[in-house]
Amino acid sequence: MELPGELRAALDDALAALPAKRLATVAADLSLRYRAGTPPPGGTFARSREDIAAYAAVRLPATYAASYAALRQVRERLPDWEPATLADFGAGPGTAMWAASAVWPDLAHSTLVEREAEMIAFGQRLAAEAQSSAIHAATWIKTDLLGTWDIAPHDLVITSYVLGELPEPQHAAFLQRLWERTAGTLVIIEPGTPAGFARIRQARLQLLAAGAHTVAPCPHDQPCPMVDDNWCHFSQRVARSRLHRQVKGGDLGFEDEKFAFAAMARLAPEPIRGRVIRHPQVQKGHIDLELCTPADGLQRTVVTRKDRARFRQARDLRWGSILPMADEQAEPAEEDDAAD
Ligand SMILES: C[S@@+](CC[C@H](N)C(=O)[O-])C[C@H]1O[C@@H](n2cnc3c(N)ncnc32)[C@H](O)[C@@H]1O
Repeated sequence: MELPGELRAALDDALAALPAKRLATVAADLSLRYRAGTPPPGGTFARSREDIAAYAAVRLPATYAASYAALRQVRERLPDWEPATLADFGAGPGTAMWAASAVWPDLAHSTLVEREAEMIAFGQRLAAEAQSSAIHAATWIKTDLLGTWDIAPHDLVITSYVLGELPEPQHAAFLQRLWERTAGTLVIIEPGTPAGFARIRQARLQLLAAGAHTVAPCPHDQPCPMVDDNWCHFSQRVARSRLHRQVKGGDLGFEDEKFAFAAMARLAPEPIRGRVIRHPQVQKGHIDLELCTPADGLQRTVVTRKDRARFRQARDLRWGSILPMADEQAEPAEEDDAAD
């Protein structure tokens, strides 16, 4: 997938003043700080104007891709649900709002909550270039998510790549506050690492106990059946611009963003038979599928060429595809959606 043209252009514009070499140095330093783990107490990884430009150059396309892919899974499971309002907590430069507007073009209003003033300024600069009124006229609120705030319920609530930046003992209270502000669906996205998945798994358990239903990716409301060092995640391929390649110092024209997520709703979606949770292995006479299913938990299935109808259906499946109930057609994921 590509970033929407107007977001790509707005990002290029916002980054034009800084030489690519300088952005690369700042991005490398920022990446070291991220890898070192938790941010300084009361602080955030990216604070200065340069940090934020480097963050946007390197990470915005990837986190956009993850939000877009996760929200498409929500739309697929709730085809009749149209959120009118969005609240994004730890919004950064407003990335998830752009993704939500691409998935639901009729989104009418967005509220973005963020602590860093420079991040808000950068996000507002991007939003000024948007045609969508939900993006253009978004309300930005500068506050600490762990402090005192009160925000009315919104149809769609997102917190994307944020939980891991908050102190672990505060996660449960933070998620409870988000759920209280969720009129429809709460989407939590984290990096597709074992640690990111562990946070998602715990968040999902907490929200199930609060009465939420799982919209995606799990095809059920039971505890996650994954054990040992197995972790549930997905992958979205996104194109890299020239500047992105310069700043990252690579030649590849794309990158694959791995992410873990949970979309939890007030209403239960229609049932499905399962979801493909790994890249399907297409062999000569058969296709191996790893599935998560409501009936049997994790399941490995081999579909042989002899079973013509199922084989034809299995050929269209991608990592992340759902298996609809038996009498419906499987809906293939976007061509380049799932990459290893
Ligand atoms: C990794 S960025 C993710 C940004 C955006 N959600 C995305 O997906 O691209 C994390 C964001 O959370 C914000 N953040 C972290 N801790 C925060 C806090 N306690 N209060 C408000 N914002 C916070 C950071 O400033 C940063 O913009």
